[in-house]
Parts: sequence; structure tokens; C-alpha cells
Amino acid sequence: MEHAAPPAWVMLAYLISGVFFILALRGLSSPATSQRGNRFGMAGMLIAVVTTLVTHELASLPEIVGAIAIGGGIGWVTARKIAMTDMPQLVAAFHSLVGMAAVLVAAAAFLNPEAFGINGSDGMINPVSRVEMGLGIAIGAITFSGSVIAFLKLAGKMSGAPILLPLRHVINLGTLAAILGLVGYFTIDQSPWVFWTITALSFLIGFLLIIPIGGADMPVVVSMLNSYSGWAAAAMGFTLHNTAMIITGALVGSSGAILSYIMCRAMNRSFISVIAGGFGAEAAAGGSEAKEQRPWKRGSAEDAAYMMGQADSVIIVPGYGMAVAQAQHVLREMADLLKKEGVKVKYAIHPVAGRMPGHMNVLLAEASVPYDEVFELEDINSEFAQADVAFIIGANDVVNPAAKTDKSSPIYGMPVFDVDKAKTVFFVKRSMGGVGYAGVDNDVFYMDQTMMLLADAKKMCEDIVKALQH
Ligand code: TAP
Repeated sequence: MEHAAPPAWVMLAYLISGVFFILALRGLSSPATSQRGNRFGMAGMLIAVVTTLVTHELASLPEIVGAIAIGGGIGWVTARKIAMTDMPQLVAAFHSLVGMAAVLVAAAAFLNPEAFGINGSDGMINPVSRVEMGLGIAIGAITFSGSVIAFLKLAGKMSGAPILLPLRHVINLGTLAAILGLVGYFTIDQSPWVFWTITALSFLIGFLLIIPIGGADMPVVVSMLNSYSGWAAAAMGFTLHNTAMIITGALVGSSGAILSYIMCRAMNRSFISVIAGGFGAEAAAGGSEAKEQRPWKRGSAEDAAYMMGQADSVIIVPGYGMAVAQAQHVLREMADLLKKEGVKVKYAIHPVAGRMPGHMNVLLAEASVPYDEVFELEDINSEFAQADVAFIIGANDVVNPAAKTDKSSPIYGMPVFDVDKAKTVFFVKRSMGGVGYAGVDNDVFYMDQTMMLLADAKKMCEDIVKALQH
């Protein structure tokens, strides 16, 4: 049975929802328009879901409403409870669901092709549908198992260090070749063993691809899995003859791929080397060096308030610790007081500061920091040399000069802020022992012009605000 084309109004509704998703992505590209972008996304999704519900009679209304209530309820509770710092693992967990959904849809279509209208005149599944199905299940299963590993690593339930199997490149390439070969073979033989072997090998390769990735490369992996989840949805859109899924999947797939590329560039990694895995392998070893005894200077909130109050220009470098401490609001208060004193204040945002893309931008926007005070790495890095003060708050890896000089460092090659060029550096963190995500010591702690402000970031900013007010 060939699948009948859907009515014109359905195609139009899906097209409109696709346009809304494009407007959503456009809006999300800048903090100033991101809320509008989100609203476009929600409206597009509403149109797509309602159109699908009205035109499909596979399930009864109570069943559909029940499923939406359960899924929506879990999503609502999770979204309300999740701490901002736990977002990356939540995103990874959600990607795994998209992957699993693609696997389940492909399995349902394989087991009951009649219901999906993908049988040819000979009673067999159309060869083209078999390719879509094979690719859908492969990408979906890779997304699922890869995202589960990413979730476990990001949530700290599994060591973040890379796990390097011997001969892993040979095993990975062999498994990938076997999957592609079987997808091809599936077009001439639709035996269940072919389908289920593709599924099993794809679950395995997702696992194998992500376990060797560690250290600072996780951000790239998360956006890569985001991209995979989109392609998995697009492939299933072809099987289901659903234009909205094809458009949305392609948008997610390509925007995720572009984001991965941007992140790779930000980390100065080649895409292939990240996928091949093993970066950050030395991270665990580097962490132990952090215990080295070297002289360093401790500063106080009063020192910081005095020096910054006297300065012409201060560049604030926020990082993951600012998010943990939720220090963004009081940090902005501190900046406001400095501006009143005539100090020029700018915020420097590294593309991988924090634990997810745009993490710092979201937090600073939440604290109503004016967008024109927020600068990206390439736009502000040259200004540290003229800055009186670099105020590093909860950042560590993104200001570590080892990335420029130490070839054995797991972050070697990642562009970092030249904070060492500022006249004075204040470094807010809780202890000298605590290291950043990559687990390596930081020479900035021991520089002549550095004063360590050891405290919780929020508490330290509150104390500086008090000192400035006096
Ligand atoms: P990190 O290098 O992770 O350093 C965080 C710093 O914050 C540490 O020095 C920590 O020291 C301090 N800190 C933690 N809690 C604090 C608190 N309550 N108050 C004050 N300080 C606190 O941060 P970063 O510079 O933002 O670098 C990001 C790293 O994460 C990069 O390696 C990046 O590759 C990786 N990563 C990024 C992403 C994305 S997409 N952004 C995703 C996954 C991983 P103490 O413990 O001593 O306080």
C-alpha cells in the first residue's frame, strides 16, 4: 500500500510550524530576542502537535491526552526542579529520549509496516523506507546510548576521565562499517536479524564513541548528540511521511552540527579528533600536580573594593563557579557601584565557560546585565593588556595560560583569556585545592599581580558591595 499524500491544509500547517521553528532559532541567536524566539518555538510546536492529533486516528483521544499528561507532567516537574548548573546533564538525558523515540518508531514501523503505509506492491517494505528505517534506527540508537554515557559523565555518576580501550579506533571503524553495510544489505533482505543487528551494533557504537571522550571536550559531545537527535528525528519523519518532523529534525540536526563546529573552533579542536576521542586523557594525571606548593597572595573584599574603585577599567570573567554560587545578581550590583565611581566595566564570556553553551549569557541576562557590556573572547581578549583589573569569578580553565604553553595539558590549544596581561588580577574561588573542569593547576594563582579571593563567589561579591558602599 502506497502512502496517500496528506491534505493541503496539513502540509500548510506543517510548513507554518517549520517557519516558526526557523524564527525561533533566529530569535535564540541573541539574548535580546531569545524570549521571542522561545515563543515562536512554542507556537510552532503547538501547531505541529494539534495538526498531527487532528489528522491521525491511530490512538483514541483519551490515550493521547493521557500520554501528553504523563510526559508533560514529568517534563514540567523536572524543569521546575532542575538547578541551572545541572542543565547539561538534563539536556543529555532529553537527547537520549529523542534517540529512543526514533528507535521505537523504527521498530514499530518494522513490525507493523502496513499501519505506516510503507509496504510496496509485493507486500515487502519499500527499499527506500528500509534505508530510512535503517538510518533512523542507527542514528537513534547511537544518540540514545551516547547520551546516556554523556549524562552519567556530566552528572558525575561515571568518571569524567576518558576511558581508552586498546584498538578502539579499529573497533569503532569496524562497527561503523558493519552498520553501514547492514543498512545496505537491509534493502535486499528485510529479515528481522538484519534489523536487530543494526540496532544492537548502533547501541554499542554510541557507547564506544562517547566513553573515550573526557576532560574539556564534553561540550562538543553534547552539541554533537543534539545534532544526531535531530537527524534521527528527520530520518523517522521520512518513514512516517511527516513533513513537520523532517523540517524540525533537519533544523535541529544542522543547528546542532553548526554549534558543534563553533565549539570545536572555540576549543581549537578538529571535529574528527573530538569524535575519535581521547582528549583530556592526561587530565586526571594533571589534577594531582595541583597540590604543588608555590607562593601566592591572599586578598580581601576590602582590597578588591579599593583597587577596583580606583581603576579606570575592570574586566569581569565569569565561569562555572558563578553559576554554582548564583552570584550573578550581586555581581551586577557590584558592577553598578563601580560604574557609579566612573569605572569602565566589561564582562568577558568564553564560549565554553560554565557547563553549557551560552551558560554565562543566560545568567547575566537573568541579572539584567546590559548586553552592550558583554563581550565574546575574540572581541575583548586584546583589551586585557590595557585593563587595570581582571576580576575572575568562578572561572578557571578558560583563563589558564597552560592552554597556550603546555603541550601536555589536556586543555592545550584551547584559546583562553589573556588575564595574565592585566595590571591586577582578582581570582575568586573557594579554595586553592579546587581545580577546574579539566582538573589542572593554574599559573595565574601564583602570579605577582594576582590576589586570591578565597570564598564562595556570592559571599565575596556581597562583601565587596558592602565595602564599596562604605
Ligand atoms: P571551571 O574550569 O570548571 O572552574 C570552575 C571554578 O569555579 C573552579 O576554580 C572552582 O574552584 C570555582 N568554584 C566552584 N564553585 C564555586 C563557588 N560556589 N564560589 C566560587 N568559586 C567556585 O570553569 P570555567 O572556567 O567556566 O570552565 C569551563 C570548563 O567546563 C571548561 O573546561 C569547559 O570545557 C568545560 N565544560 C564546558 C561546557 C560548556 S558547553 N560550557 C560543558 C561541559 C564542560 P573551587 O572549587 O576552589 O571553588
